[in-house]
Amino acid sequence: MQLTRTGCALRATSRRWATISNRFLSFTAARAQSNAATDTNPADTSPAYPPRPPGLYLYGGIGQFKQPNPGSESQRSADRGFSSTIDDKKYPKDLHYNVSKQILEHVGRKLYLQPNHPLYLTRKLIESAFSEDQGFNNRLEPNPVVTVKENFDDLGFPADHPGRSRTDTYYVNQDHVLRTHTSAHELKLFSELKEDLYAGSHGYTLCSDVFRRDSIDRSHYPVFHQMEGARTWRLVTANEILDPNEREAIASHERRLNLRAMKDDLERLPLWRYRAGRDIDPKLHDQAALDLKAEDPHPNFDPATNPLQPSHTAEEIELVASHLKLSVEFLLAKVFRQAQRAGIISRTEPPRVRWIPTYFPFTSPSWELEVWWQDEWLEILGCGISQQQLLVKAGIPESVGWAWGIGVERLAMLLYGIPDIRLFWSQDRRFLGQFREGEATRFQEFSKYPECYKDVAFWVPDADGKVENGGEEAETLPPPTVGIEGEQRAVDSVATPSPSPSSSGAAAPAGGHNRSSSDSAQHHPSFHENDLAEIVRDIAGPLVENVTLVDEFFSEKKRRRSLCYRIMYRSLERTLTNEEVNEVHEKVRRRMEEQLGVELR
Ligand code: DAH
Repeated sequence: MQLTRTGCALRATSRRWATISNRFLSFTAARAQSNAATDTNPADTSPAYPPRPPGLYLYGGIGQFKQPNPGSESQRSADRGFSSTIDDKKYPKDLHYNVSKQILEHVGRKLYLQPNHPLYLTRKLIESAFSEDQGFNNRLEPNPVVTVKENFDDLGFPADHPGRSRTDTYYVNQDHVLRTHTSAHELKLFSELKEDLYAGSHGYTLCSDVFRRDSIDRSHYPVFHQMEGARTWRLVTANEILDPNEREAIASHERRLNLRAMKDDLERLPLWRYRAGRDIDPKLHDQAALDLKAEDPHPNFDPATNPLQPSHTAEEIELVASHLKLSVEFLLAKVFRQAQRAGIISRTEPPRVRWIPTYFPFTSPSWELEVWWQDEWLEILGCGISQQQLLVKAGIPESVGWAWGIGVERLAMLLYGIPDIRLFWSQDRRFLGQFREGEATRFQEFSKYPECYKDVAFWVPDADGKVENGGEEAETLPPPTVGIEGEQRAVDSVATPSPSPSSSGAAAPAGGHNRSSSDSAQHHPSFHENDLAEIVRDIAGPLVENVTLVDEFFSEKKRRRSLCYRIMYRSLERTLTNEEVNEVHEKVRRRMEEQLGVELR
């Protein structure tokens, strides 16, 4: 299943987190093969992004994305008369629609606005490190529907990127999705900065809910929250001057002056000042003094693996990268200080944090930040130097900027020690009553109700939509189905895209090729775990805690592959009876037969 590592909450015992170095090696090798990026001079308005290096990908791998056939009869009938209403807006429906009723029920909850909710408090803490006083517009964007263009195209995602597939992303229709990351708003936010720059703002934060079809466990939920942040500096304004000689001379003079301004900004950062032994605002001293060990063994850029953009100089990017890293480390210092006060992390052992070079289609160079947590490295955020083409499109070609995306649940879990991501959606007073603005709190488990697990074993259909059954008569794969305001409807012409080997990290704009279960189960061309997860979630809702592959084999005799998943049911609020779990489980089994075309064993 696909995992957004900034997006999903931390999961301490998973081997998901252990795949980072493999992924990094693969991407490094891929980068080494790739040619240098195309020229992206600020003045150059060509729309092309640098070519995508081959190999493993953040926010997905390289895979097939089959489009529904737009000309089919069912497409035309789906187009007729149906529409969905999300956040009070109507969207015409077509065969791409795959949003279940259960997901729609989460739209509009706006947990980040609910006073004393841990996500609200975490948002506030992040905003305090990137505040309006410091030139950041602190924004929210409640409507989760964005265009495919905003979510993928504008950011340079290739057309065949698996993150675009219906197994990973909720489609409202062919042109609209429920945003899979807050970066979907980057272009708009940068464009708005054009006006704001004159009013003294040169950055923004944005908090919103994001949606991904994903695995099921204590750190994954199909709806979670991200924060996006960015900061820009003006490099040159001389582009409008017509005489090329004059323009060059003025521009290089201006660039030097602006470099000085960047240095001044860097030297204003509390962490920079503290580390340089300068005076520091006493209110910030405690956080700055935290003995935070940010390991950063790699250079900020590398021509082969994490290149500078051609329109930037090394000196400029060293400054911007240092500003980004120190700003983010200071945010982490705030989080750790609060977690120490709440007794969640030790006061004696300095927290470990590390920077890792990575790849995003919309930044170069790019990095991830990981935190050592319960004996594993957890990714907390992805970031980088924004692709100049994005700034060109946004109308601020003369600027340079950094941007990051943070998983809010993940930070909240660090801050409060919250062990299960479903808890964030709880309306139980025993949960909500625990948190208060200005207080360092350690989450107290109010009860642990017993779990009840059920296994489901089945034969997987083959890639042509037939059940693998050797010499026996082949059966046809039932079509994938999608929810339409509660009811389920078969979609006969939509091919569920086959996941690629690297797509399990996919919806990971911030990366990760982590997987929760065996690769072959995940990558069987006609079965995708995310489809199973979606069915279980649709039927069991918040009663499901975990879905794990527990057995897999290929029968040579039968020429068929068998998988067995264990579904762990547990309510966070009451004890489930065996009868009610049996009933739910039976519905799951039946829906699997109908929608996934599997043969139950
Ligand atoms: N959108 C990425 C994600 O969902 C995170 C990210 C990476 C955001 C780099 C950014 C960025 O703004 O520059 O994982």
